[in-house]
Amino acid sequence: MSQVVSYELQANIGIITVNNPPVNALAQVVREGILNAVNTAQKDASEAIILCCDGRTFIAGADITEFGKPPKEPGLPDVLTAIENSTKPIVAAIHGTALGGGFEVTLACHYRCAVASAKVGLPEVKLGLLPGAGGTQRVPRIAGVQAALDMITSGNPVPAQKAKDMGLVDEVVEGEELLAGAISYTKHLIESGAPLKRIRDITIDSSTIEAGFFESARERLAKRARGQIAQDRIVSCLQAAVELPIDEGLIRERELFKELVNSPESAAMRHIFFAERQAAKIKDLAKDTALRPIKSVAILGGGTMGGGIAMCFANVGIPVILVEINDEALERGLSIVRKNYAITVQKGKLPADKMEQRIGLISGTTDYGDISDVDLVIEAVFENLDLKKEIFAKLDAACKPGAILATNTSYQDVDAIAEATARPEDVVGMHFFSPANVMKLLEVVRGEKTADDVLATVMQIGKKIGKVCALSRVCYGFIGNRMLGGYGREAQMLLLDGCTPAQVDGALEGFGMAMGPLAMSDLAGLDVGYKARQGRTDLPDDPKLYRMGTMLVEMGRYGQKTGSGFYQYDPETRRRMSDPEVEALIKEEADKLNVEQAHISDDEILARCFYPLINEGAKILEEGIAQRASDIDVVYIYGYAFPVAKGGPMHYADSVGLKNVHEKICEFRDKYGEQYWNPSPLLKQLAEEGKTFAQWDKERSAPQ
Ligand SMILES: NC(=O)c1ccc[n+]([C@@H]2O[C@H](COP(=O)([O-])OP(=O)(O)OC[C@H]3O[C@@H](n4cnc5c(N)ncnc54)[C@H](O)[C@@H]3O)[C@@H](O)[C@H]2O)c1
Repeated sequence: MSQVVSYELQANIGIITVNNPPVNALAQVVREGILNAVNTAQKDASEAIILCCDGRTFIAGADITEFGKPPKEPGLPDVLTAIENSTKPIVAAIHGTALGGGFEVTLACHYRCAVASAKVGLPEVKLGLLPGAGGTQRVPRIAGVQAALDMITSGNPVPAQKAKDMGLVDEVVEGEELLAGAISYTKHLIESGAPLKRIRDITIDSSTIEAGFFESARERLAKRARGQIAQDRIVSCLQAAVELPIDEGLIRERELFKELVNSPESAAMRHIFFAERQAAKIKDLAKDTALRPIKSVAILGGGTMGGGIAMCFANVGIPVILVEINDEALERGLSIVRKNYAITVQKGKLPADKMEQRIGLISGTTDYGDISDVDLVIEAVFENLDLKKEIFAKLDAACKPGAILATNTSYQDVDAIAEATARPEDVVGMHFFSPANVMKLLEVVRGEKTADDVLATVMQIGKKIGKVCALSRVCYGFIGNRMLGGYGREAQMLLLDGCTPAQVDGALEGFGMAMGPLAMSDLAGLDVGYKARQGRTDLPDDPKLYRMGTMLVEMGRYGQKTGSGFYQYDPETRRRMSDPEVEALIKEEADKLNVEQAHISDDEILARCFYPLINEGAKILEEGIAQRASDIDVVYIYGYAFPVAKGGPMHYADSVGLKNVHEKICEFRDKYGEQYWNPSPLLKQLAEEGKTFAQWDKERSAPQ
């Protein structure tokens, strides 16, 4: 028997214990160990068997390092068959989280008991996969098809009591003493002569499934899943569970699982899974860098961003002081926070008493004297460098030594802001995304002089408030906004070249973007970009550049807020509709500028919009602004709603082939001019060497 799985007989109960830290993943040794133990127990004096785990959790999933490698025997299905065919009842005893393959192991057992703090779940969909060891066949048999659909397509774990109510577990044991509780439950089963309950023996009554149930589920999920295929395959598996005998259903599930394991969508999602974890690591920072304690926070500016940022901290129990210029602005800021919480309560996502608790953690002031004691200040006032410098000089005077002074600026020079203080080592960028209480990304901007412990603390506090952190050096727009420039520019250029707004947005939404760039500009307000452009002296002098956006603003069409922009909007439903007036105007302008309009394919639209992102991403890498190509992908997935099924712009470029991307950029350069299309030397080099960004990352992560 392998060391990671032990078996012992306690009176008439055989106890199989898995001990494979940290999360008892279903590695080959674990599978083999369970199989051997089950076989041993068949021949001894036990009358029932308990399967439990040491450490902090029950089996929390597959060993994902085995993905993509040749399967090692015994496979999980063989282990499950042995469990299910045991001649003595096997009781799974669950604590921590029984996830994925771990939960599927319990479903092959005859009974499941759990401590109240345990959770069970099938999170495979989050990696673009489906539960491949019977989860899609067994869950609907005990919890019903609708509940199985919700559970497996969301991937969200279910707490023990709810799992019991759903029929997923049989018993919630009292107290946290799992083994004692499991033994007494098992004794009770033995004494009452409980039968060998096998989920496979249950047949789903297909007459309970409404006509069209699966079709409408597919449609609904396709809208939400943006290019992911796993949801659709999960529906197919559930349909098989209803329509086919279990052995055929299991075969179908295996086939579809294999399809997903080999799919580009799952490869992209697994890439992001690892990329997210990598992004949290700063390459040149010692692992044991001491952290500064953060027990209280001040936010300067209670506008769009400040209020959301305050909520992030209150949500994890950290008190926040909101600082505004006057009482009126302060009250406005606090009331928006209250309103946002109230909406969360209305949606049933937060109990009312928790809301009160959180609101109670947010106080307000107009006096800098009140923030002299806080550990972290985040400035979120208007985007104006002089104002920010003035404020940082004041903070320097007002805050205690060692307080971290962060700015949420989107574009301004963090080093110039730091120099306004006598302690630039305490200054850092914390760039949140709107709405700050919802969006997962936090770009942490490392100034020239930012101290290591400040960086380490900010990365850690970012994680604590539920953000995915990615590190950027200082440059105009940092990683995300700097890359975005060419994307918005080309979306507008494409109009003059012959596309309608609906065509441009349609191509990008078809790719999986949540909203196309022109609809997005309408949502943000066309006046915002217009005003930002006015202050810039670095833009090429080209009448085509942002022509349509500028004209629309000058016509009073600011986007959704004025009822029209690139589109017109239904005043009631806000539904966007094509506007013939805009389409005629585009043609007129193209004629005036002598631009020949032509049909442009969706692929060409994607290349025009995405390749500037990728090219700028490569420049960001060669300049050392981002640590890794995969960090850039994380920024785009969590900050800009790039479809996770495409893995981020750099992963997407790898999948298209860097040689192809480079060639196309050169073609655009020859056609549209060097001022817009200037291939990055790194991109050129990798294209010539036949390499990918992923390889570039890997070469740089290897020990020197
Ligand atoms: N809105 C976004 O989508 C977004 C996203 C990321 C970052 N940012 C950045 O966040 C910052 C704030 O943006 P916003 O959209 O929240 O702006 P906003 O105009 O909604 O809010 C700014 C707030 O700052 C207050 N303020 C001004 N001067 C102040 C001072 N001296 N002391 C205290 N408060 C003061 C104003 O009264 C106002 O309520 C900007 O630097 C912006 O670039 C914005």
